[in-house]
Amino acid sequence: MPNQAPISPHVLIFPLPLQGPLNSMLKLAELLCLNHIKITFLNTQHIQERLCNCTNSENYYLSKYPNYFRFQTVPDGLPEENPRTGDQIPNLLESMEAVAAPIFREMVGCGVCGPDSENPVTCIIADGIFTFATDIATEIGVPLLYFDTISPCALWTYLCLPKLIEAGELPFKDDNLDEIITNTPGMEGIIRRRDLPSFCRTNNLNDRIIQLVLKEDKHIPLAQGLIFNTFQELEAPILSQFLNISPNIYAVGPLHAHLKARLVGPEAEPTYSNSIWKEDKSCISWLDSQPLKSVIYVSIGSLAVMTKDQLFEIWHGLVNSGSRFLWVRRPGSVVGSGNSESDEIPLELAQGTKEKGCIVSWAPQEEVLCHPAIGGFLTHSGWNSTLESIVEGKPMICWPYFVDQQVNSRYVGEVWKLGLDMKDTCDRVVVEKMIREVMELRNDEFLERANGMAKLAKASVSEANNLYKCIAHFTNQKHRTRSYE
Ligand code: UDX
Repeated sequence: MPNQAPISPHVLIFPLPLQGPLNSMLKLAELLCLNHIKITFLNTQHIQERLCNCTNSENYYLSKYPNYFRFQTVPDGLPEENPRTGDQIPNLLESMEAVAAPIFREMVGCGVCGPDSENPVTCIIADGIFTFATDIATEIGVPLLYFDTISPCALWTYLCLPKLIEAGELPFKDDNLDEIITNTPGMEGIIRRRDLPSFCRTNNLNDRIIQLVLKEDKHIPLAQGLIFNTFQELEAPILSQFLNISPNIYAVGPLHAHLKARLVGPEAEPTYSNSIWKEDKSCISWLDSQPLKSVIYVSIGSLAVMTKDQLFEIWHGLVNSGSRFLWVRRPGSVVGSGNSESDEIPLELAQGTKEKGCIVSWAPQEEVLCHPAIGGFLTHSGWNSTLESIVEGKPMICWPYFVDQQVNSRYVGEVWKLGLDMKDTCDRVVVEKMIREVMELRNDEFLERANGMAKLAKASVSEANNLYKCIAHFTNQKHRTRSYE
């Protein structure tokens, strides 16, 4: 006879410790809590500290979902003084595999989330790049779903890597970055060499990122399913390609929009900010005093950097365009030296910025993008930024920096036609021209497309219900196993 109390659904969520993935995973976690699913959210100590210093995040989740949400932390293995910048991602992943993975294994195997704990974990949701999660989940007997927080179109190019290498399309045979790629099924005629993820621009297939991605490609099909922060109307052709490699696909996005819709009601609150930088909210009062759709918002997210020369090219382009602008200059985002002899700001830039600009170190981006004064977004094409812009119907100028961003910007410019792709260029004349096109000359055309896609995004039917059912199914299986053993 069964002699144990029923087990309730309990998901351990393990995000890649970067701002973008953290945002998506916390939104998913909150949606799961609202559906009475217990969450253990596993952050690295470094991220947890920054979250606590910059927001009231810990209190927000713990007090709003006292019976459903808890944080646990693991070290990422890097010395505290080491930077966690974009160029350090391979180091971060390797050190997490060495240091964080064994602690995670113990936590799920015999620790606070193990089978003998009061609330054993019944499902793991981990970032797709955590290949160590498949072995641990199999060994302990807990089902695993991978949540790839980048776009399906970008992940699909990652999964095509073996085919590209086999067909001799990688490494590139010459310098022609406009050559069309043929071995990315479902993307025929769309992807040029320059639109492949940035790590493809190498002659060395033993490059650490390439090797990490090839490993990820082998592990993704081993999970019980794949979760995406996207919606069918945006990426249906690519989502259908994934059905060939994974038994269960859940397109649950745009997560922030679905969460916002769920939180609307008598106790409505905006979705919670999970920033690991301190937000400067003064830009919202600045926006309040600007005319409708007159401001271009400029941000390169949490990891991208630019040189001093690029900073000045963008700055001149912005001022020369005559547009108003709100610019996020994250501390540390301007690197190295350029030809600009000194840090002295030319008079015309100082004057132009004083008249029409606002510069902050970190903005409340979701709030900024839905502000009526914003007319466009010059973005690095990170997936969260892209989705946030799509939901608010803001046309984009894409200036991708690395990894998945090259693919996203191609889709924005060529497939969805929601803006312009400025990839591989940073010239004041081009910046000015593109801003004029998006904000004035072709504004009607882009706005019509952007508003249409925003409507589809808001009306999209999240596949989260199927995800809840899947988690409930895993939990029932676990219960039966426990009761009859
Ligand atoms: C990383 C990768 O760089 C990106 O390529 C990948 O698609 C996701 O993970 P990041 O570069 O930070 O992310 O970009 P993005 O995905 O756009 O996420 C940035 C997040 O920070 C967004 O949710 C955005 O709203 C937020 N943000 C950004 C702010 O809250 N304030 C800011 O000033 C800038």
